[in-house]
Amino acid sequence: MPVISVQDLNYQVGEQKILSDISFDITQGEYVALVGPNGGGKTTLIKVLLGLITQNSGKIQILGSEKKRFKKCYKIGYVPQNVSLFDSNFPLSVYETVALGLASRKPWFSFLSPKDKEMIDIALQKASITHLKEKNLSQLSGGQRQRVMIARALVSRPEVLILDEPSTGVDIVSQQKFYQFLKSLNIDYKLTIIFITHDLGVIADDVTYVLSINQKLVFSGTAQEMLSCESATELYGIKSHVVGHHCSSHAS
Ligand SMILES: Nc1ncnc2c1ncn2[C@@H]1O[C@H](COP(=O)(O)OP(=O)(O)OP(=O)(O)O)[C@@H](O)[C@H]1O
Ligand SMILES: [Mg+2]
Repeated sequence: MPVISVQDLNYQVGEQKILSDISFDITQGEYVALVGPNGGGKTTLIKVLLGLITQNSGKIQILGSEKKRFKKCYKIGYVPQNVSLFDSNFPLSVYETVALGLASRKPWFSFLSPKDKEMIDIALQKASITHLKEKNLSQLSGGQRQRVMIARALVSRPEVLILDEPSTGVDIVSQQKFYQFLKSLNIDYKLTIIFITHDLGVIADDVTYVLSINQKLVFSGTAQEMLSCESATELYGIKSHVVGHHCSSHAS
């Protein structure tokens, strides 16, 4: 059974079509790169999946339930595109920030139970930031702050983790460490990951599946197929030396 199944999805605002006729399935344990040009509709698609906005038509199933009936929101962890909301001067410690990730699972402002504390400790460990838990967010580097946001998403033990362009503003070494970290979450915990990126070349070896969105689904398949597809590489600015392969777009 797919963890996420999308059939004939359409979303428009007024007359403007933003997502058209999109269909795909994501299986458990997959590591999916969601790519496409700026304004292509990636963030919008994620918002539809998360139930933050509602599609005009199309069928969406999340973990086997129809989206409208899906109530276990804590099973989907989400790290949004602009985490600057939690930036520098926000007076929160790492521990408190991660604890906020439990909010979808329990009433707001109730006390942390021993079970909650255990879940927070495990999330801190998974993200390798236990040693930072007393620090204020303002004392962290960009890469450390990213890990805090991941721990915050992991604390409710999601089955799917969705990240919207998490590597913006982080240097290349931190970025590579970060990708290794995501890969280890995918492998060690069999966590399904959906990762929005403009940098498919860098994570091509890690991901198991690529969806390319430009209003329509323009490509779905493996990263190797995507990178060897000349028209796709031209469209999305991804450099590849493997040419001469017929571009087989699987988009339906
Ligand atoms: N609430 C809205 N009202 C009107 N138009 C919107 C709204 N939200 C998004 N759009 C439009 O939908 C299109 C897709 O935007 P979206 O943010 O999903 O793109 P994206 O693929 O995430 O781009 P980027 O790579 O720049 O983050 C854009 O043309 C955007 O202007
Ligand atoms: Mg976006």
